[in-house]
Amino acid sequence: MTEIEFVNGGDAKQQADKVAKELVKFSRDINFDGEALLDFVQESIIPVEQFFANYTCAIMEIETKFKVLNEQFSLKYDGNPIESIKSRVKDYDSIIRKIIRKKLPHTLEAIEENINDIAGVRVICSFEDDIYRLAKCLLQQDDITLIREKDYIQNPKPSGYRSLHLIVSVPIFLENEKKDVKVEVQLRTIAMDFWASLEHKLKYKKDISPDKLEMLTKELVDCANVSASLDRRMQNVRNNII
Ligand code: GTP
Ligand code: MG
Repeated sequence: MTEIEFVNGGDAKQQADKVAKELVKFSRDINFDGEALLDFVQESIIPVEQFFANYTCAIMEIETKFKVLNEQFSLKYDGNPIESIKSRVKDYDSIIRKIIRKKLPHTLEAIEENINDIAGVRVICSFEDDIYRLAKCLLQQDDITLIREKDYIQNPKPSGYRSLHLIVSVPIFLENEKKDVKVEVQLRTIAMDFWASLEHKLKYKKDISPDKLEMLTKELVDCANVSASLDRRMQNVRNNII
């Protein structure tokens, strides 16, 4: 049985600590006395820590569901469907940039309500069929609510991007309450992931001439087509083996 590699990207505690440090600095600037500083920490920092912790917990729930499905599938089919899972809590700076871009109110409630990808789980499979099989099994679980589905495998983006995206909500059980938390699940093949990471690098490349950018963008669309055709051929071979 193959080992799954679980890579945890952003750490919620780190995110919360970063916010906390900035808030403490801010409180020093406006000269709080001891008592007021304590109130300030309780009112401002603890909710931020809890906010990020909720998303870490939701990621753990979703990862466990996929690990369980991976075990189940390995008994039924030949081999494990999941190659790796990469999870991350969205960077605090990216959340701020997104609320500014979307002109959202600067409150935790507005962020929770309007930003769907604070918790992200990326599931990488070898074959396209496994993506749909895993998505179907996840969505039929009675504690999972589908909020939105985007099938960029059937309908690739103009860039050539392919993946199946699910925004789901999963309950987490805290000390005294149950809370539904949103998670963005991206399911892709190894080939789709390989393509997306290369294309992502191009997006962030600043010092590139417009001509070269156009040429590389076209080349990437072509690579996406070749990679999609490879996925289909590999799937076909597998269908003929098992
Ligand atoms: P945001 O992009 O998160 O603001 O929301 P959206 O509603 O436009 O979501 P969409 O489902 O289109 O994309 C969400 C995520 O998918 C992105 O953050 C990327 O991780 C990935 N993604 C979407 N399009 C592309 C693409 O063209 N190239 C790459 N490399 N990744 C993409
Ligand atoms: Mg996003």
